[in-house]
Amino acid sequence: MLRIYRYLALASAVVLLLALAMVAWFYHQHAVLNLVEISTKHNVGLNRVMLNTLWSKYGDYLISARDLDGPTLRARPETREIHETIKELSAGVNVLKVKIYNRDGLTIFSSDPAQIGEDYSGRAAFMAAVRDGEPSSALTFRDRFSAFSGEVFQRDIVETYVPISIEDGDILGAFEVYTDVTDIKQRIARTTFNMLIGLFAIFGALYGVLVFGIMRRAIAPIRRASNQAAKIGPRSSGVRLPTSGMPWEVLPLVTAVNLALDRLDRALDAQRRFAADSAHELLTPLAVLGAHLDTLNEKKVATALRQDVDAMTDVVHQLLDLAELESEGSVINETETVDLREICVEVITMLAPLAVRDGKQLALSGTEDMIMVKANARMLHRALRNLIENATAHTPPGTRVEIQLDEEGVVRVTDQGPGVPPEGRDAVFHRFWRGDGETGSGAGLGLSIVKRIVESFDGSVTVSDAPGGGACFTIYLVKI
Ligand SMILES: Nc1ncnc2c1ncn2[C@@H]1O[C@H](COP(=O)(O)OP(=O)(O)O)[C@@H](O)[C@H]1O
Ligand SMILES: [Mg+2]
Repeated sequence: MLRIYRYLALASAVVLLLALAMVAWFYHQHAVLNLVEISTKHNVGLNRVMLNTLWSKYGDYLISARDLDGPTLRARPETREIHETIKELSAGVNVLKVKIYNRDGLTIFSSDPAQIGEDYSGRAAFMAAVRDGEPSSALTFRDRFSAFSGEVFQRDIVETYVPISIEDGDILGAFEVYTDVTDIKQRIARTTFNMLIGLFAIFGALYGVLVFGIMRRAIAPIRRASNQAAKIGPRSSGVRLPTSGMPWEVLPLVTAVNLALDRLDRALDAQRRFAADSAHELLTPLAVLGAHLDTLNEKKVATALRQDVDAMTDVVHQLLDLAELESEGSVINETETVDLREICVEVITMLAPLAVRDGKQLALSGTEDMIMVKANARMLHRALRNLIENATAHTPPGTRVEIQLDEEGVVRVTDQGPGVPPEGRDAVFHRFWRGDGETGSGAGLGLSIVKRIVESFDGSVTVSDAPGGGACFTIYLVKI
């Protein structure tokens, strides 16, 4: 699964770091190039001064010395004199070493005497300077280096070959000047580092705004839409995904889903209306059938058939109840504050005569006070009636059904019948589920209606064993 948010955040972080590293690298390279260029100019200038001073006095010697070898050159008095002059000239300037070559690459002089007499004709930089007549420079790092002042360690050095040419333009040899640029190089490194930190801070802040501000904000409408979508069910018709603030790229998907929901809603609505209409249409023929039964001469048959017709009428009524519960704008949505005790009394008053007729009793116990709960009076009445009718149907003649009230918004309906076995305690609340060997006239809809009703009031219903055997159905409601 591609996690766009994380992917973009990571990718842009990597790109940003790379870009910063590149900027720092370019800056560093540029600064070092500048350093070499400035050092070269400095070395060329210095060299000009040395040449002016030395050439008039030692020019001939430097040209003619080409046949001498190292030891001889070292022993010459000119070598020491040149050394002194150069040392004087470069006092206070960060020059570490100076060498003078003739045009064949022979080291005629070096401030490091050991190098006098060495042949440099093979050096590309030297040859380039002598051939093109242009100074050439390189920046190098030396672990140790023998300078005027003795050995020095870990130095950055710009070494410049400067061609020696007198008025007529002939190149007579080359100077090589070594300048110490360690300090400047370190300053460049420091500046680069500081710049990197600064850029990192600025771009880090921008990145934060981009990733955590803008991107999170762009994704927020999608999250909102997902939460909304999670709430959509068959009973939440009319709920649509919000389109406001939705990213343009996602909008077509959201709009398409909303249109699909429109179509589903219409289909669902048609189906519900069909169920309700069918149930309703059945009531009239059942009523007519009942009326015809009354005219039958065979009273025994008529009574038996009458029971069946009544049972069928009950089922049709339950189907109508279900259709109403499912329909949009159902009264179930009009929750109010009702007195649980009052409704229990109403239902018991209504059902008690029927129970007594069958040799059973209904008993109300618990608090005498009002118990205000969140519910709808008509629907709560229907739920309680279902539970008490079931209990009366299952409790044996001569026993009683107890309705206990609890001031926390709980009501228990307990009978002394066979109870509901543990494996059936979930299933009893499913539509059309009936216990094994159930002979009553129902269709298994009653408890599913009860569950649906109490859940719409944010309540719940459970079944357990009554203390002395029998079933105990408990409705929990939200107390106001
Ligand atoms: N008080 C009870 N004691 C024992 N079994 C019960 C009780 N109430 C319900 N049941 C079981 O749950 C089933 C479903 O009940 P219900 O949904 O009311 O449908 P119906 O009453 O139409 O059968 C019943 O068939 C019965 O097996
Ligand atoms: Mg029932």
